Amino acid sequence: MMAAGGGMERVLITGAAGFGGSRLARLLLARGYSVTGLDVVAPLAAGLLVAEMSHPAFRYVWKSVQDIGPEDVAGHSVVVHLAAQADVPLGFGSPRYTLMQNIEGTVAVLEAVRRDGGVAKLIYAGSASEIGRPLYLPIDEAHPLTPHNPYGFSKAAGELAVWSWHRAYGIPAAVMSNGTVVGPNMRREVFIFKWLWEARHGRPIVVEGGEQTRDITYIDDTAEAWFLAVAAAEERVVGRKFHISYGEERSINELAGMCRDAAGGGVPIEYTGYRPGEEGQREAFSIERARRELGYAPKVPPQEAIALTARWVRSLM
Ligand SMILES: NC(=O)c1ccc[n+]([C@@H]2O[C@H](COP(=O)([O-])OP(=O)(O)OC[C@H]3O[C@@H](n4cnc5c(N)ncnc54)[C@H](O)[C@@H]3O)[C@@H](O)[C@H]2O)c1
Repeated sequence: MMAAGGGMERVLITGAAGFGGSRLARLLLARGYSVTGLDVVAPLAAGLLVAEMSHPAFRYVWKSVQDIGPEDVAGHSVVVHLAAQADVPLGFGSPRYTLMQNIEGTVAVLEAVRRDGGVAKLIYAGSASEIGRPLYLPIDEAHPLTPHNPYGFSKAAGELAVWSWHRAYGIPAAVMSNGTVVGPNMRREVFIFKWLWEARHGRPIVVEGGEQTRDITYIDDTAEAWFLAVAAAEERVVGRKFHISYGEERSINELAGMCRDAAGGGVPIEYTGYRPGEEGQREAFSIERARRELGYAPKVPPQEAIALTARWVRSLM
């Protein structure tokens, strides 16, 4: 992919050592982009980027987004800001740390982009947690941000910062919000992983609540959506928000059953109380805008996404 002035187009991914960032880095390199991955994870500990580290078009910057500056952004046409404290449970235990990572970190990225002045697109990863209990369904991009937990608040505040910098300084921003993403290398603290892991070891699946819903999306579909935004003409994405989940609502109860079956069946499902703020939570996104305007067409339905994730979980032992 050629940049306007010749040479390969270079994309900066913050949080590149994580689940989503490493998948996007691989996809972009395979499609001819140059990639800079920035993350606080030490280079030798960035296990999801082992292959990319020796790729000639990949560069790794070991740094916190808190300390990102215009010199880190210079030379990149696109910044995909994925770095975050992304675990909902840690948000309850460490709310101030979560706010610092997700709000201050985002503001630092926005300031670096502003001071550099050369970025054509900044893509922010939003979350269904920014909405929590929706006011109407399906949740479209115009739905107000109504977070119901500390992590959701931090991501919503990050999104508001993005739009504030966009309006104040013309930062060429876009927001891509997704529901729960699953697949190989997913975070171990996400309920789908925990259930598959426990069931695989013959232990019960413990469900917090049960009637709340999730819009389960496979990582390849999420990465493809991010790619579409990276590749799209600026005027198609700048100043826009897109929902990029699979677009199918499933209750936590249903998903627990799918995980039990995908792990080989047999284990009991036990119930405990809802997490704070989670009773009544719905993830039921409309993805029509992304379909229409970006050509986004997710391929992997929730059941298959869970089966593919279960296969990876089995390979871990
Ligand atoms: N995975 C999901 O289900 C999901 C759903 C909705 C939104 N999101 C959002 O997508 C993005 C990626 O999520 P993920 O699942 O890949 O998470 P992840 O935890 O696997 O990756 C996040 C990466 O950010 C890095 N990071 C954290 N703080 C940093 C800092 N201060 N400076 C530099 N790097 C830092 C971490 O080291 C990690 O490698 C996040 O912004 C998250 O909020 C994820």
